[in-house]
Amino acid sequence: MVPERKQPAYSTRALSAETWGDFAALVEANNGVWGGCWCMGFHPEGLSRQGAQGNYDAKQTHVRRGTVRQVLVYDGDECVGWCQYGTPAELPNIKNPRAYDKELEELPAWRIGCIFTGKGHRRQGVARAAVAGALAAIEEAGGGLVEAYPEQVEGREPQQGAYFHTGPENLFEDLGFERDRRIAKWRWVMRRRVPA
Ligand SMILES: CC(C)(COP(=O)(O)OP(=O)(O)OC[C@H]1O[C@@H](n2cnc3c(N)ncnc32)[C@H](O)[C@@H]1OP(=O)(O)O)[C@@H](O)C(=O)NCCC(=O)NCCS
Repeated sequence: MVPERKQPAYSTRALSAETWGDFAALVEANNGVWGGCWCMGFHPEGLSRQGAQGNYDAKQTHVRRGTVRQVLVYDGDECVGWCQYGTPAELPNIKNPRAYDKELEELPAWRIGCIFTGKGHRRQGVARAAVAGALAAIEEAGGGLVEAYPEQVEGREPQQGAYFHTGPENLFEDLGFERDRRIAKWRWVMRRRVPA
């Protein structure tokens, strides 16, 4: 008999002053994520020149000011992943900006920023729960056009999860996103509308 795949029931919460400790524990358990980015790359100020401590301080400042939108995924009491989202003004620093601007016709209302699942929790639906949570939060905030910038999976060698910090394309396809245009060899702008 084939053993059943573990499918934990996840819950989600917004990153806030109350959940900061849960988020920080997940980042610290994963070596700061990329050596200490603290998920700052998409924010207006980008990554800090002061390295991990600068990124930590900047992220905490966003949380205190309420200028970050991030859905945390929990397995029981443990935070195991997240999906960052926001308006283009809140998340201006996407990859491949020149290619993006070249064929830009309409800015979206919302962007999905980076996605992360802690090591040991991958391929168990955490990222799917995180993006679904972000889409639900976007609906609550009025909906509109949502963009993601995932990596193509089909037609290339299998990639380690680490390269998919904007998510794999098939995850977004499953959640109703469609390709809009290519902005790098393996990166696409994908879009879907969320009703209000
Ligand atoms: C990419 C990443 C977010 C995926 O998270 P996950 O929780 O493992 O993803 P899920 O289990 O929800 O997978 C959903 C779907 O995405 C796709 N997928 C996920 N990981 C994949 C991979 N490594 N290769 C191909 N497809 C993948 C699959 O279609 C999967 O569905 P399936 O398992 O039914 O086939 C995770 O590997 C990760 O966090 N990588 C590091 C990214 C990072 O460094 N982020 C930091 C940004 S600051």
